[in-house]
Amino acid sequence: MSRAGLACLVVAGCVGAASAQTLPRSVWNGVYTVDQAKKGEALAVAQCVSCHGDGLRGGEAAPPLTGDLFNSTWEGVLLSDLADRIRTTMPIDRPGTLSRPQTADVLAYMLSLSKIPAGTLSLPADAGALAQIAYRSYPPQP
Ligand code: HEC
Repeated sequence: MSRAGLACLVVAGCVGAASAQTLPRSVWNGVYTVDQAKKGEALAVAQCVSCHGDGLRGGEAAPPLTGDLFNSTWEGVLLSDLADRIRTTMPIDRPGTLSRPQTADVLAYMLSLSKIPAGTLSLPADAGALAQIAYRSYPPQP
């Protein structure tokens, strides 16, 4: 066995460790700020809760944007894809009206609802930067 292969056996979870370097960061890396989530909350209250319910927990006609159902749909998806989904299809009665920064703010609020910790940098509005961050419903295992 090669020396690298042997090292992999010793360092349990070598595959995981190697891919952690090549894969995008996740939402658990402190990718939004508390202030941004507050802005997003104001926007969501004005434009999303009428359908998605208080705390975006799901309404009569629209699915929850936090919790198990949401997580099972979006696990591992890049934030650029989730942002695109929001920006191009929501609010469903006025699609395309949110700017990229507004979409990032709403996304930050959604992350805060899922108890994903905030950090010191705002979630970027730029699609290329959002494509570096994956949605994960659980923190990475040590
Ligand atoms: C007029 C009602 C309405 C409003 C307002 C609305 N939505 Fe929706 N939304 C829906 C419906 C209905 C669906 C499910 C059908 C679909 O996926 O298009 C949905 C689906 C979604 C999904 C996909 C959920 C999933 O897990 O598949 C996201 C994300 C989303 N909305 C975000 C938002 C955000 C963010 C806002 C506010 C900026 C918003 N929506 C405003 C009705 C609405």
